[in-house]
Amino acid sequence: MGTSGFDHFQRQPTGCRALYTMTLLILGTGYLFAIIQTFHVHAGRDGKPGLSQTDIQLAYSGSQADTRLETALKGPMSGMIKSEDAAVISGWVRSGAEMKAYQENVLPLMQAHCLSCHGGDTEMRKANPHIPNLDSYENVMKMVKLDTGQDVYTMVRVSHIHLFGMTFIFFIMGTIFLHAQVKPKWLKCLIIITPFIAIFVDIMSWYLTKLYQPFSWVVYSSGVFMTAAFTIQWFTSIYQLWFYRLPEEMADSGT
Ligand code: HEC
Repeated sequence: MGTSGFDHFQRQPTGCRALYTMTLLILGTGYLFAIIQTFHVHAGRDGKPGLSQTDIQLAYSGSQADTRLETALKGPMSGMIKSEDAAVISGWVRSGAEMKAYQENVLPLMQAHCLSCHGGDTEMRKANPHIPNLDSYENVMKMVKLDTGQDVYTMVRVSHIHLFGMTFIFFIMGTIFLHAQVKPKWLKCLIIITPFIAIFVDIMSWYLTKLYQPFSWVVYSSGVFMTAAFTIQWFTSIYQLWFYRLPEEMADSGT
């Protein structure tokens, strides 16, 4: 250990440097695949190419767009029911489409205005089986799937995999990067700490985006910070492992 407080790559045995290099190569490849995967899953959700903050918003909180029932009530079925009654049905969808509220408020309206055509075995439905059956809670629910994005259970599963996985990756990356010479010291610390903060903030913002869509900006930027830290650590380490000459005074102070 030199007076500088760390063992630079250049003072490490060749075997050790070979190990670091191979680890970096595979981790770098892995990170590239992770970026491709992220693009593949999320890019273009908003209809535009590339990965945008809107894509992330759609992935986590959904489009929140109208359900088929609401679309029908505003469109082709608008003539079948008074608009204030249609508003009762839409309100029921938006407030969570509970069974109890369905029986109290929605079923009577549907009996009065819809089931003559949309009942279990109406002439209309015999003639055209594509007309949805709206005669029960279960059947109506098929028309009221709100797009609320990724479900929380999937997010919990992906969260724990990411938290463990990323900690391993950035612990290994950071441990290798520790042997690089970066000044000032606080900058080196910052580059090491950043990905850990980013992964934590990233994952917390998945859930927050569900509650409040603008948080997708935080998801987006933490990904950018993480990738920046990874790239800096990777290139600095590879460069200093093989191409960098330690300044004279540092080379002397070693061993
Ligand atoms: C006079 C018969 C009739 C009545 C009454 C009627 N509908 Fe329809 N409904 C249809 C027909 C026909 C279609 C299929 C063709 C279409 O989509 O225009 C349909 C389609 C639908 C669809 C499916 C739209 C889609 O996404 O494919 C929904 C949902 C719907 N109706 C809801 C209702 C509701 C709610 C009411 C009561 C307010 C109602 N309908 C009253 C005849 C009716």
